[in-house]
Amino acid sequence: MRLLIIGGTKFLGRHLAAMALEAGHEVALLHRGRTGAELFPAARHLLADRDDTAAMQAVLAGAGPWDAVIDTSAYVPRQVRTLAGMLAGRTRHYQLVSTISVYVDAPRDTTPEEAALRTLADETIEEVSGQTYGALKALCERAARQGFAGTGTAVLVGRPGLIVGPFDPTERFTWWVRRFARAAAGEPVLVPGDPAAPVQFIDARDLAAWMLAQATAGTPGTFNLTGPAQRLTMGACLEAMRGALGAGARLTWAPQAFLLQQGVTPWTELPLWVPDDDAGMMRIDIGRALRAGLALRPLPQTLLDTWAWARENPPAAPGATGIDPEREVALLRLADATPSP
Ligand SMILES: NC(=O)c1ccc[n+]([C@@H]2O[C@H](COP(=O)([O-])OP(=O)(O)OC[C@H]3O[C@@H](n4cnc5c(N)ncnc54)[C@H](OP(=O)(O)O)[C@@H]3O)[C@@H](O)[C@H]2O)c1
Repeated sequence: MRLLIIGGTKFLGRHLAAMALEAGHEVALLHRGRTGAELFPAARHLLADRDDTAAMQAVLAGAGPWDAVIDTSAYVPRQVRTLAGMLAGRTRHYQLVSTISVYVDAPRDTTPEEAALRTLADETIEEVSGQTYGALKALCERAARQGFAGTGTAVLVGRPGLIVGPFDPTERFTWWVRRFARAAAGEPVLVPGDPAAPVQFIDARDLAAWMLAQATAGTPGTFNLTGPAQRLTMGACLEAMRGALGAGARLTWAPQAFLLQQGVTPWTELPLWVPDDDAGMMRIDIGRALRAGLALRPLPQTLLDTWAWARENPPAAPGATGIDPEREVALLRLADATPSP
């Protein structure tokens, strides 16, 4: 297959590029040359800023056509519209990496692909923030479907949940891996919320393998893409981390009300923890993707591979994700002294 990845040098795209080359596909990577420019000498590197229309036209004019284009780096609909205009008639398949954040908050039961999407009152906004990210991705999805309509290109919209594993720049899962790996014997580890709360995430390599298979097949459609296949609770997830990485650690559960009262930020200070209002983010229905062949590796494999990578790669932005160790100790003391309701 002749594959163009818009991006491809950081995390998910990096796994995609590595797998595609390994499988013998002919790979081109379009990026600015700022991230991982030294990677993948076997790929063709098309250097352009996707926000620079003239530069995009120049690099795309001398390349293609493609069997598939996978777009990992679209955040505003204008980027998708512009790209669709340039690729019309030049690819059989276009795959947009969207997100489960497109869904309107707080569905308490499982969320299928048809659930309501976020909207923006002003669709011209291009500032990407926690407030606009999901709605902008929903607009990117619409721009992809409209932009390629009638061109013969099959559009696949993939909506990943939290993506984890080696090369993750966000530390949201890796922080826990590091936390358990450094726990001394008998050390209490502050763990958040309700042990029975469901938790979902997907190993970037499982996601990349599935995306590549769909690109090869030219599959159209919209798919939620997270894991695991069976319900995983926060308790089971953190116990698996303890078992794989920090056998001596003692899980010390702090209830949501206590943590919120102490001003602990969900998702950032204690990653994977979402408060009840956002519980829908961890109840995404992945039946459609499973039926379309999504295969998810066992959690211990993701944990051990993430740790093997993390021990060689310190956090890019230390302190940006995960609770400060001194604050954790202070909270553990306070939690001990606070009677349960
Ligand atoms: N991480 C998660 O948990 C999560 C969850 C759900 C969805 N997602 C989505 O998954 C995608 C994954 O991103 P990733 O970082 O892993 O992908 P990636 O393809 O590994 O990295 C991003 C790529 O985009 C390129 N890029 C960025 N801005 C560009 C621009 N203006 N013009 C041209 N190239 C540009 C970067 O290279 P240069 O810097 O060299 O340009 C880099 O190659 C994103 O769309 C994100 O919204 C992520």
